[in-house]
Formats: sequence, C-alpha cells, structure tokens
Amino acid sequence: MSRQTLTGGPRLRLPAHRASSATLAGAYPFLFAPSLTTGTLVGTDALSGEPFCFDPWDLYAEGVLTNANVLLAGGISEGKSALAKTLALRSIAAGRRVYVPGDPKGEWAPVAHAVGGIVLQLGPGLPTRLNPLDTLAGEPPVVHAHRLRLLLALAATALRRDLTAAEHTVLDSALTAAAHAASARDASPTIPDVITALDARQVNRAEGGDLGHGLGRLVRGELAGMFDGPSTYRLDLHAPMAVLDLSALGNDDHGLELAMTCASAWLDAALTTAPTLHGAAPRRWVIYDEAWRLLRFVALIRRMQLQWKLSRAYGIANLMILHRLSDLDAVGAAGSEARTLAGGLLADCATRIVYRQENDQVAATATTLGLTGPERELLAALPRGVGLWKMPGRSHVVRHHLHVDELPLVDTDAAMRGEPEHRPLEVAP
Ligand SMILES: Nc1ncnc2c1ncn2[C@@H]1O[C@H](COP(=O)(O)OP(=O)(O)O)[C@@H](O)[C@H]1O
Ligand SMILES: [Mg+2]
Repeated sequence: MSRQTLTGGPRLRLPAHRASSATLAGAYPFLFAPSLTTGTLVGTDALSGEPFCFDPWDLYAEGVLTNANVLLAGGISEGKSALAKTLALRSIAAGRRVYVPGDPKGEWAPVAHAVGGIVLQLGPGLPTRLNPLDTLAGEPPVVHAHRLRLLLALAATALRRDLTAAEHTVLDSALTAAAHAASARDASPTIPDVITALDARQVNRAEGGDLGHGLGRLVRGELAGMFDGPSTYRLDLHAPMAVLDLSALGNDDHGLELAMTCASAWLDAALTTAPTLHGAAPRRWVIYDEAWRLLRFVALIRRMQLQWKLSRAYGIANLMILHRLSDLDAVGAAGSEARTLAGGLLADCATRIVYRQENDQVAATATTLGLTGPERELLAALPRGVGLWKMPGRSHVVRHHLHVDELPLVDTDAAMRGEPEHRPLEVAP
C-alpha cells in the first residue's frame, strides 16, 4: 500500500481564498461555534446576531469549560467594569451571589445597593474593621497554613522583597504562639497578636525586627484600624451581594495592595465557612475589579493562585479584571517563579474575554491567547462594549448590551462629563 493511500489521496491544489469573517460566516456557518444560549444574557454574538448568554457553572458542568474562572482584559474605559457589573446584577436575578473583595474606586456600591446587598466601607477613621486572620473552614493545620501564607504575602509585600527561610520560620512560630493565645479566649489571632509574638521571640533581632516592621504597616499609619483587631462585622451570607469599598484609602498604591489582600483574605474565610443551602454551596461570583493591583508582587500571586484552587471546592467563580495580559508578565523575568505563577493564574481562567487593546499590546496578547490572524486584527479595532470571548475550542465576538435601568449603575463617565453622581436605585427593604 502506498503512503498516499494511507494519507487520503492526492492533495487538493486550490488557490488560497480570503474573505471577511462576515462573508465567511454566511458561506460556512458550520465554521463558527454556535452562540451560547443558556445562562445569563450578555448581549449578542456579533457574527451571528444571536443572543449570547454565559454561565460558567453550567458550561463547566457541560464540559465546555475546564474551570469556572474568567479573565477580563481591556483598555481603560472600554466597558470591562460595566460588563462585570451587569453579569453580577443579572446573575443575582438568577439566584447567584456576588462578592467584590476590594473596590478601590468605590464604583460598586450603587450596584450592591440596587440589589439590596451590603457595602462595607473601609478606610481611615471608619468604624468597620476586618480581621484577615479570621478562621477559614478546615482542620487546624489547614487553617494554620492559610494564615501563614497570608502573613508571608503581607510581610513580603510590605517589605517589597521575598522573605528568607529564617524569617519564614520565625513567622511560623510567632503565628503558632499567637493562635494558641487567641484560642484560650476562643478567638482568632490578630495581626497585633502576631507582632507581639514576634517581639517576644526576638532571639535573632534582625529577622523578627524586619517582619514586625513590615506587618506594622497594617497597624500604624493609613491602614490603622482597618485590619488590626477582631472583626466588627460578620458577613450575612444570605445577602445577594457584598462589596468591600476601599475608595476612602485614596491613591496610596502600596497601602491599597495590602488592604486588598487583607480584605480578600477576610472574605475567603467568610465564604469558606458559609453554611450550605439545601446541602449545596450557592454559586458565587468573586469579582476582582482592578486586579492588576494585586498582581504586582509574587507573594500576592502565589496567594491568589492557591486561593483559586480552594474556591473550586466552594462553587466559586472568580472574575479577574486587568488592563492587559502583559500585567501578568510584568511580575518577573521570563522563566522566573513569578512568571510561572502568573501563567498558572491565566491557565486557571478557562474563559478569557479581551476588550480593545492598545496597538503595542496586540502581538503579545495574540501570542498568549493563541489568537488567529483575524482575531488579532480585530483586537485593536474593537469598539467599546465589544469583546472577544475565548473558551477552549471556541471563540465569540460579543456585543455587550446594557439595559436602560442598568445605565446609571455602570456609568463611570459621569465625573468626566462634569455631571453630578447618579443616585443609586432605591430598593424597598
Ligand atoms: N456595552 C456598553 N454600551 C454602552 N456603554 C457602555 C458599555 N460598556 C460600558 N459603557 C460605558 O462606558 C463607560 C466606561 O465603562 P467602564 O466599564 O467603567 O470601563 P472600564 O472598566 O473598562 O474602564 C461607562 O460610563 C459605561 O457606561
Ligand atoms: Mg473599570
């Protein structure tokens, strides 16, 4: 038998044909993935004109997605937050719950108010305090490991360097002592408890001293009163939505990174201890708007990745919003641990939505996401509110539609136009 018989006969020799995707869609409809028509309505599939719906849990259950997490990247003011907010609003109508662990711009409060959700404002002089070391669900060694990971991330971020093995050990034993003392009063340890324990074991002053100084950022200065004692609030898990508003913190980027990390750790603890509803965990979105702020330090990426692995067990879908995919590359040199971790985070998002990218970002984005030539050309030309949705084995160009009632809740242009702020919709209690 000749080789040609095995490989299916002589090759066709046809001239290459090029056509726009709109023409091709008509000529070869079977080449385009049919629109997704179950779940929360997002808008329309720009190629077929059909409604486009999305529900990461259902798609995961159907085997379309390998996980429920979503990455959303796009330039400033392209409509990323508007998409996330309407997904939140519409999912809540379908019985989902939504959590925003850190809202640095204070733009999510109207959304939470509109659905009768909770807004916790954190900031200098404000009464709410959350303990990031509040207990997670789990056996004591699991709880200890989570708390230690958080403390390591906070200390490394505050000191802006990786911790040494010796510092790691000192922090571990200080946490054990702090937790032991706290359990005697039937409470979770606090950051000041850990600092006290660090002070007490300053056998090697250099190690303990630097750590105490780093964690001290959460106790003194701008962050004082926010994360340095027992929580003053217990999350009402029946509320449809909860937002941790960090806008009062202003523009101190470094403080904001620490605050967002603490806030998300507190929320994790609250969500993982949630009682199940009728035996099943409710399906919950955790939305990290402006997540690029959390991805600038390897310690924070490491923590986020582990936290995402955990969230799968609790029916949580994470939505991470960035400006560009290179935010994930900026964390370290090629081949470094940071880059590997960032790549892992991207791999943990089976759905990638890309809004318009600056020209200088297009090539890198196309390579990272494995875009086709036409998709790549599209990237720099997408109008506001239109995104490329990539899922394993399928892509869609989706025009996100806003309902007139949603407009005031997603409008972030009002300030630019010099208009007074929209009042949030009043919701009957
Ligand atoms: N699909 C859309 N249709 C019409 N206007 C939109 C759409 N998406 C966003 N906008 C408007 O664009 C502005 C910027 O959107 P926003 O979501 O805040 O941008 P980003 O988060 O990407 O910076 C908002 O005022 C919003 O009302
Ligand atoms: Mg935004």
